[in-house]
Amino acid sequence: MKLKTLLVLALVLAFGSTAMATPIVIKFSHVVAQNTPKGQAADYFKKLAEERTKGRVKVEVYPNSQLYKDKEEMEALQLGAVQMLAPSLAKFAPLGVKEFEVFDLPFIFDDYAELHKVTQGPVGAKLLKKLESKGILGLSYWDNGFKVMSANKPLKTPDDMKGQKMRIQSSKVLDAQMRSVGAMPQVMAFSEVYQALQTGVVNGTENPPSNLYTQKMHEVQKYVTLSNHGYLGYAVIVNKKFWNGLPADIRTILEGCMKDATSYANLVAKKDNDEALAAVRKSGKSQIITLSQQERAAWKKAMDKSHKENVGRIGADIINEVYAATGYKP
Ligand code: LMR
Repeated sequence: MKLKTLLVLALVLAFGSTAMATPIVIKFSHVVAQNTPKGQAADYFKKLAEERTKGRVKVEVYPNSQLYKDKEEMEALQLGAVQMLAPSLAKFAPLGVKEFEVFDLPFIFDDYAELHKVTQGPVGAKLLKKLESKGILGLSYWDNGFKVMSANKPLKTPDDMKGQKMRIQSSKVLDAQMRSVGAMPQVMAFSEVYQALQTGVVNGTENPPSNLYTQKMHEVQKYVTLSNHGYLGYAVIVNKKFWNGLPADIRTILEGCMKDATSYANLVAKKDNDEALAAVRKSGKSQIITLSQQERAAWKKAMDKSHKENVGRIGADIINEVYAATGYKP
């Protein structure tokens, strides 16, 4: 072989291997355990992305607030320190998009089918669009589930909530929901909840069973009420500049991976929550309280005023569009 040919070959090899050695890195930070709907879907997205781009993309998933807590991860995304997050829909107001708190309105969704009418319909798309002016792109909604209420006293009627210090996510709607039944809401990062419950900083909290169980909250809560009074789920978001700067072919592949990871998230969400609840029950650490239809209706009635109180914050148009999609009646 001629020297020149050898040189060209060496160059090709060198550049080729550099490209292989420096894949595009997506840091995906989240606050929950790996064996939750979000944790599993994040890991599944990583698997698909790395396989389908043949290693040109590397997804580093950081679960359990390993990298950032709730508030910090939002800032990190905007600064570009991480590229992908899936915060709960209750955590978007600090970004300046209060409308997402429509998802926190108590009793607004009866089941996943009603929820999907919103997340997979025009209202869901409209809400994601609102993120763009914040330098963020909303790629998808991922399900978690319906919240239970836990405390160290049995919460059977709305009156039982009076004076209870309840940890909430940073949503004004959740604040209003708790106040509507006389509880004292306290905003706290997810990573701090277990300890706050254990030491009595707060008396109780609300979360889907998958979060309750994987954080061992049931070990420090004597009672769990199956109120299903509200929904908790996620929007998967990326730094807009980063996403738009990706090579087009890579972005297309990743969009496909996100679509499949979304189906996966929504497939495992209900099952995970059912299994977590069964595990809480089996542990015998907290007593499970079920509500009759009438008892549940009393909670709905008591919490209903938090809807009206938040019309100004969320916007009557968004609320009415969601009511129309789900058939919610005050
Ligand atoms: C919470 O803070 O309770 C949840 O948003 C955690 C999560 O991401 O599911």
